[in-house]
Amino acid sequence: MSYKKEIDKRKTFAIISHPDAGKTTLTEKLLLFGGAIQTAGAVKSNKIKKHATSDFMEIERQRGISVATSVMSFEYKDFLINLLDTPGHKDFAEDTYRTLTAVDSVILVVDSVNGVEEQTRRLMEVCRMRAIPVIVFINKMDRDGKNPFDLLEEIEKELKIELHPMTWPINSGKDFKGVYDIHKKNLLLFSANTKNESAIQIDTLASVTLEQQVGQNNALQLRNDVELIDGVYGHLQFDQYLQAQIAPTFFGSAINNFGVKEMLDTFVEIAPTPLPRQTTLNLVEPVADKFSGFIFKIHANLDPKHRDRIAFMRVCSGKFMRNTYYHHVRLNKEIRFSNPYSFLARNKDIIEDAYPGDVVGLFDTGNFKIGDTLTEGANFYFTGIPVFSPEIFKELVNKDPMKSKQLDKGIHQLMDEGVAQLFTQFGDTKKIIGCVGELQFEVIQYRLLHEYGATCEFNRLPFYKACWLTAENDDIVNQFLQFKQTNAAKDKKGNPIYLAQSEWFLNTEIKNNPKIQFHFSNEILDASVSNNN
Ligand code: G4P
Repeated sequence: MSYKKEIDKRKTFAIISHPDAGKTTLTEKLLLFGGAIQTAGAVKSNKIKKHATSDFMEIERQRGISVATSVMSFEYKDFLINLLDTPGHKDFAEDTYRTLTAVDSVILVVDSVNGVEEQTRRLMEVCRMRAIPVIVFINKMDRDGKNPFDLLEEIEKELKIELHPMTWPINSGKDFKGVYDIHKKNLLLFSANTKNESAIQIDTLASVTLEQQVGQNNALQLRNDVELIDGVYGHLQFDQYLQAQIAPTFFGSAINNFGVKEMLDTFVEIAPTPLPRQTTLNLVEPVADKFSGFIFKIHANLDPKHRDRIAFMRVCSGKFMRNTYYHHVRLNKEIRFSNPYSFLARNKDIIEDAYPGDVVGLFDTGNFKIGDTLTEGANFYFTGIPVFSPEIFKELVNKDPMKSKQLDKGIHQLMDEGVAQLFTQFGDTKKIIGCVGELQFEVIQYRLLHEYGATCEFNRLPFYKACWLTAENDDIVNQFLQFKQTNAAKDKKGNPIYLAQSEWFLNTEIKNNPKIQFHFSNEILDASVSNNN
């Protein structure tokens, strides 16, 4: 039986942005439209503020919030929208990358004052790799921002994506008058905090209504701008959006709830419904009869007395049902779930069933790793759940030899959750932890002590990148690593790794070893690796 009707209702997406661009604010406004929350301020920011980086309790509190807001499901028009939250803090970027494997599209928020920022660049790289359709929301138009044409050019150049303005701003900052909806041909006048802006239909921009509403100079400017936009951008082909080639772009002010509804309306109209997903066997269509899904995020329980964790599973095909045995491919074991839960904001509760596009929370007592696949018996893995090279490397030193076992167990469990990456060197004795940010080391140290009773220290190592190595023949890689003892390591799955001290060393090795491929993510190995585990 196919569940097409249920699938066609669903839109699963994430909002991504550089911290402070307005992701939390926009999320809140979307939830207000969806009726999932009633008042502003209900969505707590899950960002770990700068001043709190060494405050462990604050980290734990924030982790608590982030579990609660990990997935927010709400209904809007006739659609069921699953909004997957992504951590704002750059040290948790890996978490965001993985979340992007579970969505079908993204909304990218750009601050009109700051333009493209570092975090946005990296997130968009992942979107490009995965060909995820993107809608852009240029936020904070109530502040004196950059010229909109300059902004579009900057975004296109920096993020290597073509934009297509759907709305166009009339000034910004204190002179911000509103936006003209180029497609619906209407004018939205700016006023702070409106839930339902009323649009003024202007079929032709020559109409005097425009002057009456925004004044002569603004009317003139808008006419010129729109003429230029029409000439440069032409007509939007939605196919190109779905193929991740063009990003429809909106201007607004999330805090003032301005321009948000227009974007949401377009989003439900054009954003993709659950898409097929690649496995080691074939492409799995969401309409396939048999259930399948994968784990993209694992969250430890905050209460140390209860060691269970929550595994977040994206349903990819068929229908997931409570109390039904499913095949855990890696463990080759049948498992059932008596308390799977959904994230429908009004009704965070045990669910009986779920459909493609949905995210289900599964209580886990240690069965899951990131990337695990559940099926109705088939033996395949979902691929394309990437692990990227860490940026900071530290040796793990056990400070309490009596607790070696606890340390080992703790480290392995934290790695399964995807908190960091573990590499081993020198006959499996030296353990190296690789992270994206310093904050993760603090989290690891804190959690090892509080959850496993193990004490550790970290010694910084002079590496800057880990590369996964492949060659036509394994011997070529082995020979290369034999002579690079201090730079040679294995990842958790036993794949050979080259740890480079600097860009110069890396480039030299790449140049001197043309038969070896150096990869900055393990995606290339994904399929074969999964089969071996
Ligand atoms: P983030 O999740 O992307 O990190 O950003 P968040 O929504 O927390 O917004 C960052 C700051 O930008 C917040 O101010 C928020 O109020 C403000 N903001 C969001 N949208 C707009 C907008 O359209 N216009 C203007 N002018 N500001 C906007 P804050 O002072 O850091 O926090 P708060 O004290 O207001 O919570």
